[in-house]
Amino acid sequence: MESPHGLLLVALIATSAIIHLVRAQDPEGFISLDCGLPPNEVSPYIHPGSGLTYSSDSAFIQSGKIGRIEKKLEETYKKMVWTLRYFPDGKRNCYSFNVKQGTNYLIRVRFVYGNYDGDNNNPIFDLHIGPNFWLSMDLGDMKDGSTLEDIIHTPRSNFLDVCLVKTGTSTPFISSLELRPLPNNSYITTSGSLRFWTRYYITDSKAFITYPGDAYDRLWIPYLNSTWKKISTTLKANNTGSFNLPQVAVTTAATPANASEPLIYTDFLPFPNDKIFFFLHFSEVQVLGANETREFDIFWNGKVISESFRPIYMQPKTVYNPYPVTCEEGKCVLELKKTRRSTLPPLLNAIEIYIVVDTPQSETNENDVLTVRNIKATYGLNRITWQGDPCVPKQFLWDGLICNIVDTSTPPTITSLNLASSGLTGTIADGIQNLTYLEKLDLSNNSLTGVVPEYLANLKFLTLLNLSNNNLNGSIPQALRDREKKGLKIIFDGDDKKPCLSGSCKKKFPVLILIVVVASVIVVIIVVLVLVFVIKKRNASSNVEALPPSSTTPRENVTPTGISDSSIKTKKKRFSYSEVMEMTKNLQRPLGEGGFGVVYHGDLNGLQQVAVKIISQSSAQGYKEFKAEVELLLRVHHINLVSLVGYCDERDHLALIYEYMSNVDLKHHLSGKHGASVLSWSTRLRIAVDSALGLEYLHIGCRPSMVHRDVKSTNILLDEKFTAKIADFGLSRSFQLGEESHVSTVIAGTPGYLDPEYYRTGRLAEMSDVYSFGIVLLEIITNQRVTDHTREKSHITEWTAFMLNRGDITRIMDPKLNGEYNSRSVWRALELAMLCANPSSGKRPSMSQVVVELKECLISENLMKRQNQDMDSQSSLEMSMSFDTKDFPSAR
Ligand SMILES: *[C@@H]1O[C@H](CO)[C@@H](O)[C@H](O)[C@H]1NC(C)=O
Ligand SMILES: *[C@@H]1O[C@H](CO)[C@@H](O)[C@H](O)[C@H]1NC(C)=O
Ligand SMILES: *[C@@H]1O[C@H](CO)[C@@H](O)[C@H](O)[C@H]1NC(C)=O
Ligand SMILES: *[C@@H]1O[C@H](CO)[C@@H](O)[C@H](O)[C@H]1NC(C)=O
Ligand SMILES: *[C@@H]1O[C@H](CO)[C@@H](O)[C@H](O)[C@H]1NC(C)=O
Ligand SMILES: *[C@@H]1O[C@H](CO)[C@@H](O)[C@H](O)[C@H]1NC(C)=O
Ligand SMILES: *[C@@H]1O[C@H](CO)[C@@H](O)[C@H](O)[C@H]1NC(C)=O
Ligand SMILES: *[C@@H]1O[C@H](CO)[C@@H](O)[C@H](O)[C@H]1NC(C)=O
Ligand SMILES: *[C@@H]1O[C@H](CO)[C@@H](O)[C@H](O)[C@H]1NC(C)=O
Repeated sequence: MESPHGLLLVALIATSAIIHLVRAQDPEGFISLDCGLPPNEVSPYIHPGSGLTYSSDSAFIQSGKIGRIEKKLEETYKKMVWTLRYFPDGKRNCYSFNVKQGTNYLIRVRFVYGNYDGDNNNPIFDLHIGPNFWLSMDLGDMKDGSTLEDIIHTPRSNFLDVCLVKTGTSTPFISSLELRPLPNNSYITTSGSLRFWTRYYITDSKAFITYPGDAYDRLWIPYLNSTWKKISTTLKANNTGSFNLPQVAVTTAATPANASEPLIYTDFLPFPNDKIFFFLHFSEVQVLGANETREFDIFWNGKVISESFRPIYMQPKTVYNPYPVTCEEGKCVLELKKTRRSTLPPLLNAIEIYIVVDTPQSETNENDVLTVRNIKATYGLNRITWQGDPCVPKQFLWDGLICNIVDTSTPPTITSLNLASSGLTGTIADGIQNLTYLEKLDLSNNSLTGVVPEYLANLKFLTLLNLSNNNLNGSIPQALRDREKKGLKIIFDGDDKKPCLSGSCKKKFPVLILIVVVASVIVVIIVVLVLVFVIKKRNASSNVEALPPSSTTPRENVTPTGISDSSIKTKKKRFSYSEVMEMTKNLQRPLGEGGFGVVYHGDLNGLQQVAVKIISQSSAQGYKEFKAEVELLLRVHHINLVSLVGYCDERDHLALIYEYMSNVDLKHHLSGKHGASVLSWSTRLRIAVDSALGLEYLHIGCRPSMVHRDVKSTNILLDEKFTAKIADFGLSRSFQLGEESHVSTVIAGTPGYLDPEYYRTGRLAEMSDVYSFGIVLLEIITNQRVTDHTREKSHITEWTAFMLNRGDITRIMDPKLNGEYNSRSVWRALELAMLCANPSSGKRPSMSQVVVELKECLISENLMKRQNQDMDSQSSLEMSMSFDTKDFPSAR
């Protein structure tokens, strides 16, 4: 995105003759990096002009290569941009800083491409701040590919990452990076970070101000409109206010050239929907006589934001908007109109405008970040993905980690660390015990020495510890042994009685392996024989389809389930038919009818409510679907997939026992029948996000990935908190990653939700679920029936398209919502739904894209709701922005 101030900024990066200042030390907290400064050049050095100390960036980043702009450009640009660091490897490369949590920082980046690679092609890439998107850098049109950006950002943790992200084919690069802590009580906003757009001070000179003219090294651009007149004083201001304005901004101001006219300032934003914060700085520069007054009303976009404002002599006051605002079609207008009492025209000293950058995603749990970084340092791990936040955004998850990501506002935690075959040497790092939420730890196939530390037993969520193939010494500590009884699985070489932690006893292995192999071959043969026998018998005795013996391995109480043992973690999951009858009190309370059977309410030992689906015996495909569902649900775990408490597989009695979902399903609430409550628009969006997350997990989160094949509103269940979970996996099919699609012989699914392309071609892919999800979204928005032959357009997609063409959103929306929604988020959701339900699968978004878009809808809906509430409580936005109310702490 190009800044209209681009040219001015180039001038700032360009050399200018400023007297060299000799100073002892930079202000506290200033970090000034000359990126790509080679080690053989002097670092740090005092930069001419500012007198600030710049040093090489090599202590803050491990990746990237060093480049240098064309020699002839060096006289045009400042020294700190002569060299640069570029990133041919990895998708995300990050600088990391230790900062003070809760302090406001100005973060400034400069780019001068200067044809360093001889390609003459200005690159395009993204910048992220921690796990959140900052902006897309497009140097395409910039002279020499040069520009500057800054952002005011308050880190939520003591770490701050600034990341360059590859978006296409071009190679990201950076020339300089600066961090400046700002005063605590300035630039306080209610949401997001502040991306620099306008920072003008009034003057007729051409000089930019940075450090030392500005104590915080903000970049101030000179500005004077031709319809204005400059007024100033030569006195020194003793007070530069809480924003610590540059001297000259306090002592110089503009009034309208024609004293009876208002002072008008206009600005144009890069995108019409950008939300902004503005900061207007005022300070009287004339000594007023007894008969003189300067008083004016301040209007922003035609609305009064402060009445009868009087600037104070040489004491800056700042007026800003506490909540982000937009400007109609991106045109923002400030008007200062003198009041009737006033004898003098209005004045303005400086103006700042920032674009809001939403930063919803929390950084990973700080303790986990610290620990995993220490582990990285201890073992000297150099993995290209191990940069920036370990867990988020999800596409940049560090290799070998698995994290628990609940929602954007909860810091993610690390639950699995896989350092197998990583060439680790030395002892097991002490730091590992600080990964409090760790469930799986794999240190296998390394050269670790020393003892197995007892403190690993302190990891209270640990369920799997793989130590095999190392050179460890001694035995497994008792504390860990005790944990084994509570479900911790420890994998090491040797057997329980004689653990072989070191490589020394490996030699015995071949013999052992031989014995095991021979023994298992014999067992497998016996089992296959038994299975063949039992299956034959089963075929003869019932109509239920026989199962292929799949990956069956020996098991006590062999039963013809065909469910591979590996997937069944504990036997607790398996219940007998009599237990099922007991928990459902002999099928006393039916809850409804699912695919292939009736669902009953049940109670597990008075501890847990469950929903029990008794697979109907008349259903010919029942057993296959039953098997598919058990296999799937035992294998996958996700908060947005209904979880399996257990199952019953006793010849003619098949049952699935799920967690109980007290709020039934989405369809139930949309229909409003049986006293179901009406779901608000934001709840609906949340349900949509939840179910999209569930599907995304099936498509890309689990291996092999799956297609649900029967996404519909009755298969989206709601728990007591209205968290949505996908259910009914009976038709799901898994397929290996890489195989794009999959031809299935039987078309399955529910009419109305069925992907027309799948129906035509029989090719099964994730995109079929996206289609069905689009239909569900349309139901959520419109609450129309999916197919209704009494309607002019019977299918819901046709009906919506037809209504959309008429352009009346209120008639598309579910009337039960009573118009209580923000039309912007509705439009986005509608557009998304129609995109998902596109007849051509190639045009549909992926579930991950759907998740991102829906989350943004939800955030914007919640934000609007909050603002509306704030508005209601303060009677009007104008009131809340008025200068004199207590709610306006910004004016000083
Ligand atoms: C700002 O606040 C933080 C913590 O709230 C404190 O550590 C820091 O010293 C403060 N900085 C200034 C300049 O007052
Ligand atoms: C600033 O302080 C000095 C000495 O205290 C005083 O002479 C001067 O008038 C003050 N300036 C203003 C603008 O108040
Ligand atoms: C100043 O503005 C007033 C009101 O708009 C107008 O009547 C007057 O002619 C203007 N004076 C000059 C010198 O332009
Ligand atoms: C001066 O201000 C007017 C009104 O805001 C605007 O239309 C005009 O473009 C400005 N001129 C300059 C040179 O900024
Ligand atoms: C204010 O009073 C001074 C004399 O004290 C006079 O010269 C000036 O014209 C008056 N200004 C106005 C606006 O009345
Ligand atoms: C163990 O690591 C080595 C390299 O470090 C690798 O070649 C080998 O395949 C790994 N073995 C297993 C079982 O992962
Ligand atoms: C683990 O965390 C504690 C408390 O946060 C800290 O004192 C200790 O140094 C950490 N240990 C390691 C090895 O990182
Ligand atoms: C443990 O590590 C070994 C060697 O890397 C590997 O072959 C084995 O599959 C691992 N076991 C588990 C349960 O992860
Ligand atoms: C194993 O540990 C014992 C004592 O704990 C020590 O004497 C021995 O040298 C160690 N062996 C190796 C190979 O580290």
